[in-house]
Amino acid sequence: MEVLVPIADMRQWSRAQLQRGARIGFVPTMGALHAGHLSLVQRARQLADRVVVSIFVNPTQFDNQQDLATYPRTLDEDLALCRQAGVDVVWTPETAEMYPDGYCTFVEMYGPLTDKLCAIARPGHFRGVCTVVTKLLAVVRPDVAIFGQKDLQQALIVSRMVADLNLGVEIVVAPTVRDRDGLALSSRNRRLTPAMRAKALALPRGLELARRAYRGGETESRKLIEIVAEEVLVNEGVDLDYCDVVSLPGFQEAERADDRCVLAAAVFVDGVRLIDHVPLAGEAIPVAIDDDERA
Ligand code: PAJ
Repeated sequence: MEVLVPIADMRQWSRAQLQRGARIGFVPTMGALHAGHLSLVQRARQLADRVVVSIFVNPTQFDNQQDLATYPRTLDEDLALCRQAGVDVVWTPETAEMYPDGYCTFVEMYGPLTDKLCAIARPGHFRGVCTVVTKLLAVVRPDVAIFGQKDLQQALIVSRMVADLNLGVEIVVAPTVRDRDGLALSSRNRRLTPAMRAKALALPRGLELARRAYRGGETESRKLIEIVAEEVLVNEGVDLDYCDVVSLPGFQEAERADDRCVLAAAVFVDGVRLIDHVPLAGEAIPVAIDDDERA
């Protein structure tokens, strides 16, 4: 496995692969890798001849400087995981080279994908994501790039952006990997103490309770959102940043839920922000729910 840092080195490697006719699969990350990231690597290996993982904690997508400062950085572990997973190249560009003095170009999306949920809760976040993903794709020039469904809004935005800007990269969205207790894997989970983690479980539990209510016939979005708020806010005292029912593929807010809808939510557990969502017609989230207590 090669570890590349300068943009020129990454570009040169990719050009050589393209000349040989090798298909490049790409997994962009911010590091602190976990089994969710590695599932994207496995998918990339199935879809391409060579796999590139980028590790870059992108400052332009952080709306909160404290979050950027405390974002987990575990490069040595990350490299070991990538080596084990059969990655060909890990690219770790420097911030000073990605955003040199005088940098002033950004990619901004308008419309239904960027007027709700994380786009409102984190102003400027998706502008940073779109900008960095465009730059990463321009250097790596992959045939296919893999994104996680865990960050559903991001995956939809990237797919739209790549189509709109004719970037010519296939975008594949891979399923959310969860821990055994149902919590979606996230780099930020490393910042949870055991007590915080116990509280964080209210998020997948609330989503799963609402999904069950929908399956039981409740289609009023407001009621489904109330179920999440009750579990997260009232029962566990966890701050609910947003909770909404949106319809796919248009990403419109839906007053009445149907099988095309997902229920998405973001919470702050003692300052650590976590997001999750559940497709209402999808599989159950494997959380422990004491049914007797709720009967
Ligand atoms: P990061 O949070 O490191 O995530 C990198 C990729 O891993 C994203 O596509 C994300 O959706 C996916 N991922 C994270 N947790 C997952 C899980 N539990 N199951 C499946 N996939 C999961 O997302 C970013 O970085 C950045 O915004 C980035 C796209 C790299 C741009 O800076």
